[in-house]
Amino acid sequence: MQGVTVVDHPLVQHKLTLMRDKQRSTKGFRQLLNEIGMLLCYEVTRDLPIERIEIETPMTKMEGAQIAGKKLVLAPILRAGVGFLDGMLTLVPAARVAHIGLYRDPESLQAVEYYFKAPSDLADRMVLVLDPMLATANSAVAAIERLKERGAKDLRFVCLLAAPEGIERLRSAHPDVHIWTAAIDERLNDHGYIVPGLGDAGDRMYGTR
Ligand code: URA
Repeated sequence: MQGVTVVDHPLVQHKLTLMRDKQRSTKGFRQLLNEIGMLLCYEVTRDLPIERIEIETPMTKMEGAQIAGKKLVLAPILRAGVGFLDGMLTLVPAARVAHIGLYRDPESLQAVEYYFKAPSDLADRMVLVLDPMLATANSAVAAIERLKERGAKDLRFVCLLAAPEGIERLRSAHPDVHIWTAAIDERLNDHGYIVPGLGDAGDRMYGTR
């Protein structure tokens, strides 16, 4: 599918199946989301630009590689997006973090903003927008709109599960934003949940059901 990368690494697929299981504990679910976050981060950052720098090993001078440009911004959509944060920060510890507070109105399924705090120089940085579930895409579309209003130009979207409806909506609203996901599921149900999915990611992560 154009504009979408499904990360089909066996470790990701194995861990995703464990997460889908309704018997999985809160602790297990959170741990797995953290681990998959790391693996997705590895894939999403695969093509970051590199520059050469001169260093000195204990033996000799040499040219090494380092990531060029300003540090990445990780932008979790609250609250489920936070589940990806620790894993990604383990791999990219110097990343900046933008918090975007959006909740889904249960009646209209529309995204309502209640918090936004991001670095001021978004225009100079790559931004990874994080939300485990790309369902209706209302939150993803709204979050990316807010980030673009504040200057972001280079954005990528990372999720765990995507519904075909969500992918279509996000791609048509923001065709410049590539999507990384661990799986594309069958469909959305009448309540905007992904089927077969894994239920409510925030509730399962925080034990709030
Ligand atoms: N958000 C969730 O947590 N789960 C879904 O299935 C859809 C949206």
